[in-house]
Amino acid sequence: MPGGPVATGAGIGVSGGKNKLAGIFMTAFAAFGGILFGYDTGVISGIKEMKDFLTVFGVPTTNVATYPFGYFLPSSRESLIVSILSAGTFFGALLGAPVADILGRRLGIVASCLVFCLGVALQTAALTIPTFVVGRVFAGLGVGLVSTLVPMYQSECAPKWIRGAIVAGYQWAITIGLLLAAVINNATKDFDNHSAWRIPIAIQFIWAFVLVVGMLYLPESPRWLVKKGRDVQAAASLARITSLSKDDPEIESELNDIRAALKEEQDRGEGSYADCFKPSHNKILLRTLTGIFIQAWQQLTGINFIFYYGTTFFQNSGISNAFLISIATNIVNVFATLPGMWGVERFGRRSLLLWGAALMCVCEYLVAIIGVTISIENHAGQQALIALVCIYIAGFASTWGPIAWVLTGEIFPLNVRAKGMSMSTASNWLWNFAIGYATPYMVNTGPGNAGLGVKVFFIWGSTCAGCWVFTYFCVPETKGLSLEQIDLLYQNSTPLTSRRYREEILAQDIHVGDIKEDHQHHDHVDEKTQETV
Ligand code: BGC
Repeated sequence: MPGGPVATGAGIGVSGGKNKLAGIFMTAFAAFGGILFGYDTGVISGIKEMKDFLTVFGVPTTNVATYPFGYFLPSSRESLIVSILSAGTFFGALLGAPVADILGRRLGIVASCLVFCLGVALQTAALTIPTFVVGRVFAGLGVGLVSTLVPMYQSECAPKWIRGAIVAGYQWAITIGLLLAAVINNATKDFDNHSAWRIPIAIQFIWAFVLVVGMLYLPESPRWLVKKGRDVQAAASLARITSLSKDDPEIESELNDIRAALKEEQDRGEGSYADCFKPSHNKILLRTLTGIFIQAWQQLTGINFIFYYGTTFFQNSGISNAFLISIATNIVNVFATLPGMWGVERFGRRSLLLWGAALMCVCEYLVAIIGVTISIENHAGQQALIALVCIYIAGFASTWGPIAWVLTGEIFPLNVRAKGMSMSTASNWLWNFAIGYATPYMVNTGPGNAGLGVKVFFIWGSTCAGCWVFTYFCVPETKGLSLEQIDLLYQNSTPLTSRRYREEILAQDIHVGDIKEDHQHHDHVDEKTQETV
């Protein structure tokens, strides 16, 4: 290995300063943004069923057999209130790129929270549909921004040996947010005044406040600082994250790597949206499509079918206490994410994605088969359905849930990271919306609907088979590598050969900076030889 400061193979932070846990806690804290994400997506489904909400925002009806409160939300209003958030999140995710590049990752998160709070304030104060809908748009923009910026910040700051677990912590926070929304909705749903829905909405100020205060205290991403040419601050930030001194050789080595990789990209002029879709030496087209598709496939596992329509589905399958079941599915989601946080560093991204897709595929086919063959009166059959759905959720929570975010945070080179990540995250929201929108038409009976019922699980089973094939051909193993080493991995291997090359990088402790130095050395020797000739 050429000269220069030597970093440990285990990665910065492992041999770091006396207080290396401080850096882990710092970057893990940003996961709190996941609470905003999970809570906001979860809260609306309960609120729109509440009596006071329907009285304020619905229209009167005499059909009290179907609408016991005497008010209902016409479909157009319901879908506007529910899906407008998706429009906001989609554009928010895309806006995440310029915001992250201009304001920085850290202040970008702070700004997102302010936009989010504007949305929450409007919703809390609203007594008319337009105000509420505008509030949903702003809240959506905030959530979309956060969903791009938080995994970006975490991936760029976390020590490489534990980066996967830290970003998976963001997914854990999403699941906790979903659970909190279910519990808080249930606690206020019987209140007889506006506080029934205002409390669950206004509580979101707390999540945003905690995130803002925390982010103001945390350091900026050293990679963004290098990109902005602020090397001294980048060294200070790395030093804070790793609890090492600014002049430590490990810090210098890491900065060299970041600078070398960035310079190479900039020398080639790679940095625009169009560049993300061009075939190039570092396979940026493959990386962009992998980011966009991994998020699409994550949604196509069908997970939100359970979270958005689970209650109705279980009721139609003859299961009486559907609310309890929805709390149970949320609890499984929260707890099963924990083995995922551990497994992503133990078994790697690729293996877990393959196992997760296979497990979910089997469960979903079994749900479909049992669902179409048993009577809805059959108690044992119902229990089997619930058990299989819970195993399926556990499969998602411990693999595809966290790893989709882990991968989108780490597969892009610095110059286009914000753009690549924002497009991938926007894809998540687009598919989230599309599936949420199409599901009632696929599942329900009646004119204009496909009436699939439980057979819809044949579709989800097949899409999970698609997840497996996609992973097998497109997802490399990135565990334990720095973001710059992942760049080398893409340049010098394919997803199928990535495991071997990754081991080589780790065994020989190959760094981008070293390779650049090597090239420069060779170029220099070549020039000399030519001169002599
Ligand atoms: C997905 C969400 C989903 C949640 C469930 C996230 O990773 O992007 O759409 O609702 O996981 O835990």
